[in-house]
Amino acid sequence: MELIKWTDAYSVGIKEIDNQHKGLVTIINDLFGYMSKGKAKNNLGEIFDHLTDYTKLHFSTEEKILAKYAYPDFFNHKKEHVEFVNKLVTFKKNFDESRKEVSIEILSFLRDWLLNHIQLSDKKYSKHLRIYIEE
Ligand SMILES: [Fe+2]
Repeated sequence: MELIKWTDAYSVGIKEIDNQHKGLVTIINDLFGYMSKGKAKNNLGEIFDHLTDYTKLHFSTEEKILAKYAYPDFFNHKKEHVEFVNKLVTFKKNFDESRKEVSIEILSFLRDWLLNHIQLSDKKYSKHLRIYIEE
């Protein structure tokens, strides 16, 4: 079972970014899969590190593209990224201290944040970038 089902409605029209978004969906679904099987505890630290690293890579790809095409709302967009990475770091820190299972609240937060961010903030730059990038 998947927590997030990717659909083309989430596409921002830029292949590299769509592929990375799919990568993030996969990691969150993996986390959910481990949790459903009660195996999250053993793998959580690793998955969280992977999620954080991959998220940082993705945000830097996105920010490079946004800067390149002088996206007018760049700084607000980047702020959302920074806040999300801080959240991930806090989750990881709490996990390292408590060694508790990943909660459904955290998973819901990850899912909701990603889908909202893609559908609202990323779709906004998508409109701007499509003028320059044709795929
Ligand atoms: Fe973004």
